[in-house]
Amino acid sequence: ELPFSESFKIKMVEPIRKSTREERETWIKAAKYNLFNLRSDQVFIDLLTDSGTGAMSDRQWAAMMLGDESYAGASSYYNLKNAIKNILGFEYFLPTHQGRAAENVLFSALVKEGDVVPGNSHFDTTKGHIEFRKATAIDCTIDEAFDTTIDHPFKGNLDLNKLEHVLQSHPKENIPMIIVTVTCNSSGGQPVSMQNMRDVYAMAKEYGIRVLFDSARFAENAYFIKLREEGYADKSIKEIVREMYTYADGMTMSSKKDAIVNMGGFIALREEELFKKASQFNIIYEGFVTYGGMSGRDMNALAQGLDEGTEFDYLETRIKQVAYLGNKLKEFGVPVQEPFGGHAIFVDAKRFLPHIPKEEYIAQTLAIELYKEAGIRGVEIGTLLADRDPGTRENRYPALELLRLAIPRRVYTNNHMDVIAVALKNVFERRNEIKRGYAILEEAPIMRHFTVELAPT
Ligand code: F0G
Repeated sequence: ELPFSESFKIKMVEPIRKSTREERETWIKAAKYNLFNLRSDQVFIDLLTDSGTGAMSDRQWAAMMLGDESYAGASSYYNLKNAIKNILGFEYFLPTHQGRAAENVLFSALVKEGDVVPGNSHFDTTKGHIEFRKATAIDCTIDEAFDTTIDHPFKGNLDLNKLEHVLQSHPKENIPMIIVTVTCNSSGGQPVSMQNMRDVYAMAKEYGIRVLFDSARFAENAYFIKLREEGYADKSIKEIVREMYTYADGMTMSSKKDAIVNMGGFIALREEELFKKASQFNIIYEGFVTYGGMSGRDMNALAQGLDEGTEFDYLETRIKQVAYLGNKLKEFGVPVQEPFGGHAIFVDAKRFLPHIPKEEYIAQTLAIELYKEAGIRGVEIGTLLADRDPGTRENRYPALELLRLAIPRRVYTNNHMDVIAVALKNVFERRNEIKRGYAILEEAPIMRHFTVELAPT
């Protein structure tokens, strides 16, 4: 058998530049030890996020040239509407400028003070939009998700007992929806099984509650179902995706991930009443209902991206690259979350740096060390991101301290993966020399991780 290789060839390139350790030490200090403050040219391999950082295809760029910039009723809007109908199966949709804008619009129509919103480890903007409305996000993820050493094929699953407990202990009027995040970013890019989607939907209907999918990485989720769940091996990704959405009443989408565009999002719904209500908010916050924060060319590229993003060959190339990095790290003994996520490798910082106290931001300490080592920018998924409790203002210490290495789509080669793996190995070998973590100098009252300023302790 021939070895595996990428399902694309490269038509356009963008130079990147190496730096010296000395330069990086100066830059990270000037950035107050916050990697969000670095300039992109101070970074060699950028793994901050897989969001909006993908490489569009020749077909997507070609679709952009055919974008229709009419204010109302643009053909690009109808192209996108058709793609959403055909691929995802929803009748109604609203374009928004990105995923959190979709949350803002839809939650404005749905969430009120005192509500509860159960789900599987809500993403931070999702949680932010719930808490901003004085409602509560309740995490019902299975316990296995919080132990990085347990091998479970669907660590994104909801625990049905936890979910039923929430549904029983709150009046229906206070539960505007259940949110299922596919794949579950906050638990490590972990998929939700079709069976779990089916069970959650059945329970939701029993209690008369709607189910929404936070869909940023829905296609990667479908790929894992095909590989790991019985009965799906012979189904196409598009068939699996169509079935997934029969267990949802609506969805919010950050198109910057699995639809491989640099900016964009949408809401898709089945209920006409809710669509009408959300349309009002879309007009106020985003733009008229046929463009809502996106230009015609961007809607065209997105329609094409939804089609490409749900093709098996593309997904296989993508997810195998992530696993390639994961396996290298494992060989080097670096503690990583298993099974590997779809969009990222998550390094278990508590197991990597067990001697750093949680009050000194373990995962952030590791992120800074990796940057200094090789100019690689990952992101902390730990105490900084978890923020303070809105009531007590105490730090919330999450079960896991992770360094996320998010892999942009169709951007880096496996040689870059080799560099990342060796750089982390080097840090791992000198881990006992890393004696201290960091303290906060300044922070914002909400979403502090973007702007926080730190100093070594
Ligand atoms: N939902 C999930 C599961 C996400 O991962 C994100 C973004 C959003 C919603 C919000 O979408 O950025 O388009 O407004 N995640 C990015 C990340 C930022 O790096 O994981 P957005």
